[in-house]
Amino acid sequence: MSPGAPGAFRGPRKPAHAASAIRPNQVPRRGRPARAPRKVTRGEAAIASRDDTLAHTLAHIEQYAVEDATLSSARETGQRAESSPISASGGAALRFLAASIGARAVVEVGTGCGSSGIWLLRGMRGESVLTSVDIEPEYQELARAAYRRAGFPANRVRLILGRGLHVLPRLTDGAYDMVFVDAEPASYPAYLAEALRLLRVGGIVVFNNALEAATSSDGPLSAPDAGTAAVREVARLVRDDEQLIPLLLPIGEGLLAAIREEAPADS
Ligand SMILES: C[S@@+](CC[C@H](N)C(=O)[O-])C[C@H]1O[C@@H](n2cnc3c(N)ncnc32)[C@H](O)[C@@H]1O
Repeated sequence: MSPGAPGAFRGPRKPAHAASAIRPNQVPRRGRPARAPRKVTRGEAAIASRDDTLAHTLAHIEQYAVEDATLSSARETGQRAESSPISASGGAALRFLAASIGARAVVEVGTGCGSSGIWLLRGMRGESVLTSVDIEPEYQELARAAYRRAGFPANRVRLILGRGLHVLPRLTDGAYDMVFVDAEPASYPAYLAEALRLLRVGGIVVFNNALEAATSSDGPLSAPDAGTAAVREVARLVRDDEQLIPLLLPIGEGLLAAIREEAPADS
């Protein structure tokens, strides 16, 4: 995860009152009486302590997911290449989800330098195949090397160069256990439509970077950009679709997941 990646975990936040307080060793400007530090209201203190607790909880979850040397090296390569590799906790969740449904065929949009692919492959059954799509050939070459270092033979991964929305329509309907989308947030709703076509009943779709967009607040100077609006839209679509069992996981960059159920009989 690159530090600037959307939704990247940024460590403990400053309490809301931190910027306005005068530090003990601060010298008041000449001619002006020193202003007493503004009193922190009870509400501000409560918010600050809640933020602190949340930051510690998120840090704990992040540290709980253990990366081995192969995964650390893939993530570091991704960070150097600025491909925004998935966090360890997000990757651990992908592995868990893939294993929980015994995934044999998974599609990923956004190969990057291979971090999420390794997590997915570690959750998938032996003999299974990960199909991963990216627009950057250099990233895919680094990912290929990372899969090899992680011990996966070349026939376990099908790397396809191209835009996800050009490639996914060429894949077979109902043939996949899991679709993971980690690219082009502005097109998440379109990826959801593709994923629902590709997934078998009981299959899972997962979108990364679901959290920050969902929780950031708007104002006169901060209208949502296209990516944020689309992430919110896909979250709403997933929740409102009776054919899906939705789950928003507040880990890593935030994962929005949904299980595809049987279509209702009357549809
Ligand atoms: C957040 S990174 C993926 C990180 C990767 N999942 C990992 O954990 O290492 C997003 C990736 O999507 C790729 N990308 C951007 N737009 C794309 C598109 N329209 N179709 C496919 N890949 C795209 C970028 O080249 C980049 O590698």
